[in-house]
Amino acid sequence: MTKEIVPPPPAILRNDVAAVQALFQQHVVPSYGRFDIVLSHGVGSYLYDVKGKRYLDLGGGIAVNALGHAHPAITQALVEQSRRLIHASNFYYHEPQGRLAQRLVRLIGPGKCFFCNSGVEANEGLFKLARKFGHDEGRFEILTTDNSFHGRTLAGIAATGQEKIKKGFGPTVPGFRQVPYNDLAAMRAAVSPATAAIMVEGIQGEGGVTPASEQYLLGLRALCDEKRLLLFMDSVQCGHFRSGRFQSFQRILESAGEGFLPDGISMAKSLGGGFPIGAFWVREKFAELLSAGTHASTFGGTPLGCAVALKILDVIARDHLAENARRIGDFLIGELEHLRQKYPRVLRAVRGFGLMIGIDFDPNAAVFAPDEKSPAIQVVNRLHNRNLLTVPAANSAVRLLPALNLSQSEAEEGLHAIASTIADLA
Ligand SMILES: Cc1ncc(COP(=O)(O)O)c(C=O)c1O
Repeated sequence: MTKEIVPPPPAILRNDVAAVQALFQQHVVPSYGRFDIVLSHGVGSYLYDVKGKRYLDLGGGIAVNALGHAHPAITQALVEQSRRLIHASNFYYHEPQGRLAQRLVRLIGPGKCFFCNSGVEANEGLFKLARKFGHDEGRFEILTTDNSFHGRTLAGIAATGQEKIKKGFGPTVPGFRQVPYNDLAAMRAAVSPATAAIMVEGIQGEGGVTPASEQYLLGLRALCDEKRLLLFMDSVQCGHFRSGRFQSFQRILESAGEGFLPDGISMAKSLGGGFPIGAFWVREKFAELLSAGTHASTFGGTPLGCAVALKILDVIARDHLAENARRIGDFLIGELEHLRQKYPRVLRAVRGFGLMIGIDFDPNAAVFAPDEKSPAIQVVNRLHNRNLLTVPAANSAVRLLPALNLSQSEAEEGLHAIASTIADLA
């Protein structure tokens, strides 16, 4: 059906790498370090460049393309909803936004949702919620963690625990402080009379794929209850079934029982599978803090974005993709762990859950020329030569954040490229 609506990609691909790169050089702000690849189109977990070279995409648009590329269900949802209503102002009600909020609440727990466009905007909403919460008592401070990443707006970089992200953009928005991750005592010691909230990632993504420990999450919940603080989880990257459960904290705390709930959760990335949509969920007892007129976003929760997000949730449930993420993830992590044991001088660690995997290389390995780009980027470049797309993280980690419907044979193909590259490095 979608074949009738969407023309297939061009049969003859032009070799216009230089022409496209020239357009960027002349007209696009150079704020990204880009790899030397000019993409044309994608199908499932494969991406094609303009020269016709095919890559297996284990980067997934940095944890965005939850169903891979050109998934017919997404195309169908876009086409059908765009025929009816693409955008409506939030002055009015419409069914897709209400239904998406209901689905997210059912997946998390009693509460309400606010819709926006991106991960950082979802976090910004939670920051405002924390300020509203603490306002009458003069509390405004939000504690976050070292190596965290919470986005690129001024508040986002103030919350982010990486100096390189803040550098040159001072003065920093006040009211954010970082402490070491997975260190409950440090968090407890940092709480001041001005503290209103704590925000952590369930699995740090940009920081190199580092999961929170069970004790840390349970301890943060108890600390927040004791000190009357809001506990926020930034699930922008690690959420949406990537860990094998809807939320990474649900996976991390599986054996500790199901009682844990934060007070706010930010979401984006896989929520729209490539269509820009973000959201935050807030627990029932704080859901009325942002009353009419206190927060808004023109494009927040459009009928089109919500229809796509609903369709993605349908496909994830229909095709058992949470189970797939867990099964394929367990396979990949097991095989990568074997590689780490085989090549201990090159591979330092393999971390993650489900289809959020970090492969940490030893930056001191002789093969990494110190005057070149970071070890992470050097490995990602080598993997490109083996037709594999991955994502660098921190200085020395490579992330796998593929589509949740990655197949066993695709996982094996990716592993083969990774194993050959590691053998080259050893
Ligand atoms: C954990 C986390 N939070 C927030 C963001 C920011 O999301 P966005 O780029 O959609 O603003 C990201 C993006 O990588 C992220 O990984």
